[in-house]
Amino acid sequence: MNAEAAERIMARADELGAISEVEGCLTRTHLSEAHRRAAKLVAGWMREAGLSVWTDAAGNVCGRLEGASPELPAVVLGSHIDTVPDAGRYDGPLGVLLAIDVAERFAHAAEQLPFALEVVAFSDEEGTRFGSALSGSRAFAGAWDDVWWGYTDSAGTTLREASVAYGLDPRNIGDAARRPRDLVAYLEAHIEQGPYLERAGLPLAVVSSIAAARRFALTVTGSAGHAGGTPYELRRDALVGAAELVVEVERIGQDLGVIATVGRLQAFPGGVNVVPGRVELSLDLRAETDADRDDAWARIQEAADGIAAIRDLDWSVTEIYRADAVACSDELMAAVEAGVRAAGVDDPLTLWSRAGHDAMAVAEVAEIGMLFIRNGRDGVSHSPDETVAVGDVAVALAAFEETVRELARRRG
Ligand code: HGY
Ligand code: MN
Ligand code: MN
Repeated sequence: MNAEAAERIMARADELGAISEVEGCLTRTHLSEAHRRAAKLVAGWMREAGLSVWTDAAGNVCGRLEGASPELPAVVLGSHIDTVPDAGRYDGPLGVLLAIDVAERFAHAAEQLPFALEVVAFSDEEGTRFGSALSGSRAFAGAWDDVWWGYTDSAGTTLREASVAYGLDPRNIGDAARRPRDLVAYLEAHIEQGPYLERAGLPLAVVSSIAAARRFALTVTGSAGHAGGTPYELRRDALVGAAELVVEVERIGQDLGVIATVGRLQAFPGGVNVVPGRVELSLDLRAETDADRDDAWARIQEAADGIAAIRDLDWSVTEIYRADAVACSDELMAAVEAGVRAAGVDDPLTLWSRAGHDAMAVAEVAEIGMLFIRNGRDGVSHSPDETVAVGDVAVALAAFEETVRELARRRG
């Protein structure tokens, strides 16, 4: 049963993976037409699985299966269907497809669960279009921030305008918020997005916690000048200063065991014969603990001050995202571990997640648990080279289903 179901999941991941707003690669961003098409496909699969389906006020696609009696609090299984630019097809969608398949098993099972079972396909986990990461799951958790409405995409469209164009009413965003008393737990299955399962030769892992993260937009300012006529001693070259800072970011990260990445950098005015007067760059910081993350940020600020002083530059920063480390609950870790063992993994690995997930936001209103699935090719993700083995998907199905059963036993 699991092998056949896994093949269907892989085929559905391929079908979803073909829905993109960019020709020739997978890019599917929040409230885009591609998001609309993917949401429609996922809603159809949820209905086929026997769930009642709705779209919430933030654009998340939700499905529900009642338990032994109506209106019971729900165990929610979910992940996201939006992507980064030029993405792989499993980061997010695999967790949604596993959730739909597991829910379908209970929709047609004789036994009634002591809780309702819900599936949520969150949108905007990545924050690719508006920079508002986790906006869908934060709306679900009642943690919406109205400042996000004014965030704009590369075309200058605001999140508010895009929501209205998608058919949502921003005034109703509060309706997406779920009450803690209506939720038993949140469980998310996700590819590991790292190499540790592959190195251990294991298909699945239990997640212990999700990284502490902070994201910044930095600007380094010098003086633009003629590339020929400006001698070195008169230069205030913002790009050379930013380049030194990028190397320092990596050195500090390695030194402290923190994951620090500059993913985007742009020099202005951008002429090949102009000394750059301004550079804008991103900084993504992650660590197992909030303290490690913040120590790295303090060291990076010192480095920026030092470089600016030596090169007569200025620098400024805006923090655009912060999420403190979030722990999976002991009960849900035990339920996931029971699932992993039942699926045939005798000595389950436990990992902290270096990647962020919707579970971080949902943790505001429910206990969270996560199941990792082996990610091939050294765990490459956020890339079209992202892979997962159909055999591992079959084992993940068995584990995820058993995790729900274990929770039913514990809560029954
Ligand atoms: O950035 C992350 O860690 C996640 O993939 N959004
Ligand atoms: Mn991602
Ligand atoms: Mn993801």
